[in-house]
Amino acid sequence: MEKVIADQEILDSIIKPTSIAVIGASSKPGKIGYNVIENLLASKYEGKIFPINPNASEILGFKVYPTILDVPEPIDAAIMTIPAKLVLGAIEECGQKGVKGIIVITSGFSEVGERDLERQIVEKANSYGMRILGPNIVGVLSNTNKMNASFAPTLPLPGKGALISQSGALLIALDMATFTRKVGFDKLISIGNMSDISFADLINWLDKDEDTTSISLYIEGLKDGRAFMEACRAAKKPIVALKSGVSEHGAAAAASHTGSLAGAANMYKAVFKQAGIVQASDLGNLFDRTLAVSLQPEFRGDNLLIITNGGGVGVLATDAAEKYGIPLKFAPQDVQMELKKYMPEFGSAKNPVDLTGVASAEWYESSVRNSLMHPWVDALTVLYCEVAITHPMDVAMAIKKAVDESGVKNKPVTVSFVGGVESDKAMQWLVENNIPAYATPDAAVNAIAARRGRSVKPHEARERS
Ligand code: COA
Repeated sequence: MEKVIADQEILDSIIKPTSIAVIGASSKPGKIGYNVIENLLASKYEGKIFPINPNASEILGFKVYPTILDVPEPIDAAIMTIPAKLVLGAIEECGQKGVKGIIVITSGFSEVGERDLERQIVEKANSYGMRILGPNIVGVLSNTNKMNASFAPTLPLPGKGALISQSGALLIALDMATFTRKVGFDKLISIGNMSDISFADLINWLDKDEDTTSISLYIEGLKDGRAFMEACRAAKKPIVALKSGVSEHGAAAAASHTGSLAGAANMYKAVFKQAGIVQASDLGNLFDRTLAVSLQPEFRGDNLLIITNGGGVGVLATDAAEKYGIPLKFAPQDVQMELKKYMPEFGSAKNPVDLTGVASAEWYESSVRNSLMHPWVDALTVLYCEVAITHPMDVAMAIKKAVDESGVKNKPVTVSFVGGVESDKAMQWLVENNIPAYATPDAAVNAIAARRGRSVKPHEARERS
């Protein structure tokens, strides 16, 4: 069946509903129908919650309705936590009720061969103008909307990007990992079997969402490659994607199961490149690159300047720059003359700029500010080795002050502090102040390279010309 792009209003009703019915809400702790109500409450969801269950009268303080048709108020989204064989009938009732969007948490559809049942629920929903997210998903989580409409234990650490994941278990794991990686998300959306609402639908919606600055994807396989490409190419926001099964062996293994993924490694690489998508190499890199694209502007041009107080990390970053396709060039004479003012005789103003181990926070501040303001510099990576004469937090605050006072908002900056606990704290502070910071020079350069991957986007090419 030819799919049309889900319209804005229907996706609003799924991602930021003002009222939710939970069909299969349960009063029994441990059941998914209980978790969803509990999570909506715990996340301080401000919309209306209507538990639906023919055998209960009250759940966690909410009045329970036997069917959705008994609810006396309008409902934006219905979440299904009933067994697969009951979903079709419940969707019919949702249609009669005038519900706009359906979130089907329930498993037991095409992933276990029940393709007809999956097709039937989509046809039923669409016949009433409703759209389905799922089935076989964890749900939808949004910090902005204070909504944990899922059975994942908590909202993620707040951040500015959105993540769409095809794997539910991975979405929960990444949700928890936001707290240890200290990289937050505004929204997490589980997409599961993609019976109806696709990556393309969600990318279109998130691109217009004012609370989302970037879009991260975990992809196992696409159903509609063309719509996906069009959505990505049209998107103005950066997109980072982690595709599983991209190695030759992984693709071959996947191909031997389904046949559909044969050649996936090269095909997806080409598709991502054409669509201007930044590819992540693994889960850690998905977090790292998401942090950079959600906080920093695009890297337009070729000139990356690296400022450091340690020759060793400077060399590591230089190697990384070449590895990630941005080989360093020596800074022009006027840049070097300016930077020479903030280093001892034995420093180097070429590129990497080595302020040396005696560099003060003030030297960092002046060199970062002046570099950013120079037209030759297109992007900046600032490195710091924790040395006795400076405190990491002073250096972090100097970098932030310099970035702010430069007034430059169209050049990306990434940072790496190598050191101990105090360096970690300083980096966390930088991230909280919108400057991506990483434990290794390689990661900081990889992150700045991620801001470059998108420069092929057609609308940006138009803007530049
Ligand atoms: N309307 C409303 N409630 C209904 C109903 C209907 N038509 N029919 C049954 N119910 C109630 C049941 O009485 C039960 O309530 P109770 O706990 O008070 O008895 C509740 O809905 C749930 O039904 P139940 O039969 O107990 O199902 P379950 O909780 O064992 O399993 C799912 C339901 C959805 C959790 C399960 O089918 C499933 O799909 N699990 C996997 C989900 C998953 O992991 N998804 C993500 C994959 S990444």
